Amino acid sequence: MGIWRYGGTASSDEQDADQVRTFQPVGVDMGELRGTHVPVLLERCLELLAPALDRGDRTVHVDATLGLAGHAEAVLERHPRTVLIGLDRDTEALAHARVRLARFADRVHLEHAVYDELPEVLTRLGYPGVDGVLFDLGVSSLQLDAPDRGFAYAQDAPLDMRMDQTRGVTAEEVVNSYSHGELARVLKVYGEEKFAGRIASAIVRERERSPITSSARLAELVRESIPAPARRTGGHPAKRTFQALRIEVNRELAALEAALPAALDKLDAGGRMVVLSYHSLEDRLTKQALADRVRSKGPVDLPVELPGSGPTFRLLSRGAELAGETEVAANPRAASVRLRAAVRLDPTTGGSGRTDRERYRRRVRAMHQPGTGSTTGPTVEPGPTPGDGRGTDEEGEGT
Ligand SMILES: C[S@@+](CC[C@H](N)C(=O)[O-])C[C@H]1O[C@@H](n2cnc3c(N)ncnc32)[C@H](O)[C@@H]1O
Repeated sequence: MGIWRYGGTASSDEQDADQVRTFQPVGVDMGELRGTHVPVLLERCLELLAPALDRGDRTVHVDATLGLAGHAEAVLERHPRTVLIGLDRDTEALAHARVRLARFADRVHLEHAVYDELPEVLTRLGYPGVDGVLFDLGVSSLQLDAPDRGFAYAQDAPLDMRMDQTRGVTAEEVVNSYSHGELARVLKVYGEEKFAGRIASAIVRERERSPITSSARLAELVRESIPAPARRTGGHPAKRTFQALRIEVNRELAALEAALPAALDKLDAGGRMVVLSYHSLEDRLTKQALADRVRSKGPVDLPVELPGSGPTFRLLSRGAELAGETEVAANPRAASVRLRAAVRLDPTTGGSGRTDRERYRRRVRAMHQPGTGSTTGPTVEPGPTPGDGRGTDEEGEGT
């Protein structure tokens, strides 16, 4: 297997950038793949995780999506007392990561696991709680660029798309065995594909002639089934179909929905989690999982928090943070990233953990209750804390 380095126009994300790239084979050692994957929002991730990993004699960080270990290597370099637990469902990624992280072998555990298995992995390794967790979701450049794995619509390959090639159904099985209705649902829900029904019909017609086994054939079929004017907008016409099949094959959203609360549960007080999402479905799940922890569960009209009903986390990101223009220009994969982060509050410090904005809202609500005699709110609302990169406008806090 060769080493593939980006050259010319490169993109590693089928969601937002066309898969136009030029590759140059520069070697043959599988273990020397490092340098080909540029970790997204690396400095911001390190900045957010640092306060949790810098404390104490030994801290524990989980990289739930190890990939080629770009983020993991940087964490290990910056934090000499941090133990890393790296998970990936892709055995090939783990093999590369193992070589890349060899110099840190005495404080690294690499595990072949789906990230929703994190609690079992931690129990087996003897770590009841952790200080940092990073999810860098989606596919790695290793998977996307591999000529034989079928993730990319821009190159012909068998329709596999399994991140874990040791188990599960392939995209070929999905495409050739799902009913029209099931296919249309997958394409509509996971690909947000407007022409899901038409594409599903074309797939069903085509497979009656002969099974669809290659990514190029599927990509062409999708292109042909989309009306000509729609082909000219929104990137390659097959990108949404490939995204949808990949999500279905790897049961990505179900795993994420289970993994996020499980990981939050494992964070010790002061522990921090950072999530990088690359499409709206992932980001929505992340937003919901964090919102559930940062919100008070007590009655909204009480000026004080009832015991045990307060938030257990505080947001560290202001809405969803985006990558800056310079990073996107250098690494097109960063174009679609959305970063969200949160810190677990310490219940022993006595603070409710409420944000200034939430305290303000409670005070206003309490003042407007009948019988309080006041309709005037505080004159100053806490201003937003500036985010690091470009951000969306939802509520959140800076570090
Ligand atoms: C974008 S890459 C991570 C890149 C990594 N941060 C780096 O700097 O090299 C995502 C990785 O997560 C893995 N992955 C995706 N879904 C997973 C899941 N449910 N469980 C475990 N690993 C998963 C993929 O196999 C892939 O290697």
